Amino acid sequence: MKTALITGANKGIGRDVARQLAGKGFHVFVGARNAKAGHKAAEEIAKDGGKATFLKIDVANSDSVRTAAGGFSNVADHLDVLVNNAGIIVDGDGAILEISDDVLRKTLETNTLGALRVTRAFAPLLRKSKAPRVINVSSGGGQLTGGADGWAPAYCISKTALNGVTVQLAAALPKFAVNSVCPGWVRTDMGGRNATRSVQEGADTIVWLASEAPQELTGKFLRDRNEISW
Ligand SMILES: NC(=O)c1ccc[n+]([C@@H]2O[C@H](COP(=O)([O-])OP(=O)(O)OC[C@H]3O[C@@H](n4cnc5c(N)ncnc54)[C@H](OP(=O)(O)O)[C@@H]3O)[C@@H](O)[C@H]2O)c1
Repeated sequence: MKTALITGANKGIGRDVARQLAGKGFHVFVGARNAKAGHKAAEEIAKDGGKATFLKIDVANSDSVRTAAGGFSNVADHLDVLVNNAGIIVDGDGAILEISDDVLRKTLETNTLGALRVTRAFAPLLRKSKAPRVINVSSGGGQLTGGADGWAPAYCISKTALNGVTVQLAAALPKFAVNSVCPGWVRTDMGGRNATRSVQEGADTIVWLASEAPQELTGKFLRDRNEISW
């Protein structure tokens, strides 16, 4: 059975990615830092007939990530798909000349280092897959093409750097497919009610990369199943 770990899968885009992958026959590991919410999301998938296991993981905490990799290997012997979905926008992410070092550090710790740290910890399990895939959930806000518009600079910088992590991992792991995805503007706690896309639409390219995209597609930034510029 194929396995997938999705971080931040207790709500929003991550939860829908987990739900859709379970529907495609994956054993999904619902990664969440909040045990109650993570268990609930895993139970909902199981109720619909999917195979789901809650895995406690705080991507901003090295010990938690290490413990999660150990816990995972007690249940499964390989990982086929890692979706680095967990992400934050920190309060105070206002204007580039006014954001504190602390806001920038906290944002990078989760959105950028978090993805790298989880990939590093799970790389030995991914190497046991026949076709390992890593999907980093990034954002058009991190795109350098076209310049910035001043919105949430710490968040946008963290996603630009996450895209850097993607190309570095793709170079270091030639047998893996490693890609960044912009889900579009999605109706979640982060995206807000006025966003233009449903969680299903936001999850679509992530699910496609996890299950159907060619394994040779790597080191790219995608939206709507198509490559976009960095
Ligand atoms: N929504 C959009 O319009 C949009 C657009 C572009 C990109 N994205 C990206 O899509 C991804 C998912 O966002 P979303 O819209 O679904 O947001 P969301 O509803 O706010 O969900 C974010 C998820 O990340 C988790 N998380 C945050 N920090 C974590 C940590 N240190 N360890 C583990 N989990 C952590 C949250 O857990 P808690 O419940 O415990 O907080 C939650 O499950 C993010 O990477 C985001 O940057 C979203």
